[in-house]
Amino acid sequence: MSISNEAELTGMKKASEAVAITLRRMIDYARPGMTTKELDDFGNDILRSFGARSAPNLAYGFPGYTCISVNNEFCHGIPSPKRVLAEGDLINIDVSAELNSFWSDNGSSFVLGEDVNGHQPLVEASRVILQKAINNIRGGVRISDIGWLIETEAKKKGLKVVKNITGHGIGRSLHEEPFDIANYRDKFNRQRFKKNSVVAIETFISTNSTMTVTLADDWTLVGNRGGFMAQHEHTIVVTDGKPLILTSMNGIWN
Ligand code: CO
Ligand code: CO
Repeated sequence: MSISNEAELTGMKKASEAVAITLRRMIDYARPGMTTKELDDFGNDILRSFGARSAPNLAYGFPGYTCISVNNEFCHGIPSPKRVLAEGDLINIDVSAELNSFWSDNGSSFVLGEDVNGHQPLVEASRVILQKAINNIRGGVRISDIGWLIETEAKKKGLKVVKNITGHGIGRSLHEEPFDIANYRDKFNRQRFKKNSVVAIETFISTNSTMTVTLADDWTLVGNRGGFMAQHEHTIVVTDGKPLILTSMNGIWN
C-alpha cells in the first residue's frame, strides 16, 4: 500500500507493533525441550492480546499461527507437538498478522542457546545484509539494485541467496505489489521503490541452495541442494531518506 494519511500510518504502526513484539517475545521464550507447537500457541496468545489475527492462517489457511522452521527447513515450517527444540538448533520464526485491516510481517533466524552447530556466522550474515539493504532503499531506487546488493554481500561471505522466494509489498493484504523484491539482480524487474509505499524486505541467505522445494506437507520449504538458510525481515515505509522501520520493536538489529 501507499501511505496517504496519518490514520493509515497509525494503522500500520499498530499492526507492526503487534507482530514485532510477538516475534521478540517468541525468540526470548524459545528453550530446548519446548515443542514448536507450544512456541506457536504462546505467539498466538500475544497476537490475540493485541487484537491481531495470524496472517498466514487468515489469508492462506496455514495450519498454525506463526511459521517456525528448524534446521534444514528454510521457511513456512508448520508448528508441531512432535517437533522438540534442541540446543544449537537454527530456528526461523516468521510472524505476520492483520490488525484493523492493516497487515504487517517480520521474521528472524537465530541459534537456540549455545551455537554447538556453528550456525551463528550464517545468522549474522543475514542480519547485517538486511540492515545494509534497507539502509540503501529510498524512493526511486531500483528493486533489482537492492537484489544485487544482497547477492553481492552474500557472495563476499561465501554464501548464496535463494532466488525463488522474495520480499513483497504489504499493508492492505499480506502480499501486494511489488510482489518480487528478490535477493538477486532480476534484470527483468524494472520497478523502483516508491516513496510512501509499504514493503516487507527479507533476506534469504543460504549455505548451499539457490532454490527451495516444497515438502509433502505442502507447506515446508527446504533447499534444492540442502544446507541451511537464514532470514531476517522488516516491514518498512519508503521515504526520500532512510526508511521508517515499522517493525523495529522486534529488536533483531540490537
Ligand atoms: Co514474513
Ligand atoms: Co514477508
